Amino acid sequence: MPYYVTTPIYYVNAEPHLGHAYTTIAADVLARHMRQRGEEVFFLTGTDEHGEPVAQVAERLGTTPRELADKNYVRFRDLVERVNATNDFFIRTTDEQHETGVQRVVQRIHDNGYVYAGTYEGWYCPKCADFKTDADLVDGNRCPIHLIELEREKEDNWFFRLSAFQEPLERLYAERPHWVLPRNRYNEALSFIKQGLNDVSLSRARLSWGVPVPWDESQVIYVWIDALLNYYTALSYARPGEDLTARFWPPSVHLIGKDILKFHAVIWPAMLMAAGIEVPERLYIHGYLLMDEHKMSKSLGNVIDPFEVMDLYGTDALRYYLLREVSFGQDGNVSTAGFETRYTTELANEYGNLASRTLAMIGRYRDGVVPTARPEPALVAEFEDVPARLRERFDVVDVSGALEVVWQAVRRLNRYVQDEQPWQLAKDESQGERLDQVLYSLAEGLRFVSVLVHPFLPESASKLLAALGREDLALDGARFGAAPGGAELGELPPLFPRVERDRAA
Ligand code: ME8
Ligand code: MG
Repeated sequence: MPYYVTTPIYYVNAEPHLGHAYTTIAADVLARHMRQRGEEVFFLTGTDEHGEPVAQVAERLGTTPRELADKNYVRFRDLVERVNATNDFFIRTTDEQHETGVQRVVQRIHDNGYVYAGTYEGWYCPKCADFKTDADLVDGNRCPIHLIELEREKEDNWFFRLSAFQEPLERLYAERPHWVLPRNRYNEALSFIKQGLNDVSLSRARLSWGVPVPWDESQVIYVWIDALLNYYTALSYARPGEDLTARFWPPSVHLIGKDILKFHAVIWPAMLMAAGIEVPERLYIHGYLLMDEHKMSKSLGNVIDPFEVMDLYGTDALRYYLLREVSFGQDGNVSTAGFETRYTTELANEYGNLASRTLAMIGRYRDGVVPTARPEPALVAEFEDVPARLRERFDVVDVSGALEVVWQAVRRLNRYVQDEQPWQLAKDESQGERLDQVLYSLAEGLRFVSVLVHPFLPESASKLLAALGREDLALDGARFGAAPGGAELGELPPLFPRVERDRAA
């Protein structure tokens, strides 16, 4: 079964921050895990380059939208590489093939009778690129998200007949109760639909930075329509000379933050229905990273630079921290202090130390060769259902829950060392066989947890697996006791070195 996972495409109107890294990392963990299952995976991310969000900032900076997009897109592409994301393609909405793809689908929606000329009158937030109702506004006429004063707009543009999909959407929600996860987001989207859907603008008249409406070149396609279609157009040109649509459509999961729920859970499936295209299998909506209880955002300016964090602690540490600290699906505070604590107490002490101690003991007591022995029966029993529990968590996109399942196994191995005290066994010649069993079980336990944790800590887990002489990542081989003894250990570089205080400050 092919697996197609996406992130939102990020606006290029500012530098990327930790929030962008978060979704990309979570999607990468899913993609890597699914590849370990042996599935055919396509993982897409990219940048959203049209519309007012970009045009306005460009104007303020005295540059053109295209120049701004070309400059900032590089930062997002760098971030994707830097977090070790294994995306199969990076889409830019200014790609020519995307633009023609958008026009084709919009034309189809038009030809199917879901587009008409109308007049929009109301509030519009250029930062959200979204239309607001009177009830949405705060403090008189301010955007509830950006708190900027909005102006009442009136313009002739093209409308998408969203109201025609009231019933089909309600049916979709009734027939597929897990199509939006977690449940509270499903309820939120459904209740929005049940309030009654109004038609929405499909084009903008007073903007030129966008994809022209195919039958009316005086207008550009509304940036959200353009952006959502990235998930569809990308498959048609990601592989030169090949169209992957039939193989990967519909998407297995769109991963998004809760700020863009309405677009993905209401407008997107309606657009697809209008164009006669199959709707995605699932949306997963994660929460916000908070700083002192406030959403980390470029408009509030309270952002952490992910590049700085990775310069200091490495990529794996960032990946681990984000998916460990915040329960996936909920909001959660992040902080430099919390980051340091988890780095030291969990990564360095629990995983890093377990690895270096185990390898050192096998070096000292067994000349660096993993002994051949029966795996510890208690651990066999306790670890038996760990891979299945991990899969279950991933099946419902509970990425932090999956990490918790593996980490319990890491902690269990630490207790095992404490309980068995191999350095005591080594002092007693009559305990040779017992020591073999303990050392084998530790090496095998490390292999087992490293295969499972690999999607989260790809660099460190790979280094450790290489040192253990067992590099196969297939999930089927992740059974405690499956690998025989006899492997010769290699060098293990320090996985999570101490970070000097003054550098961290
Ligand atoms: O909305 N916590 O782009 P965007 C968690 N271009 N995730 C966060 C976050 C935070 N504090 N801040 C940002 C757009 N994100 C559109 C999307 S998709 C067809 C078009 C992440 O640059 C999260 O995934 O504002 C959120 O949904 C996304 O960045 C918004 O990125
Ligand atoms: Mg945003």
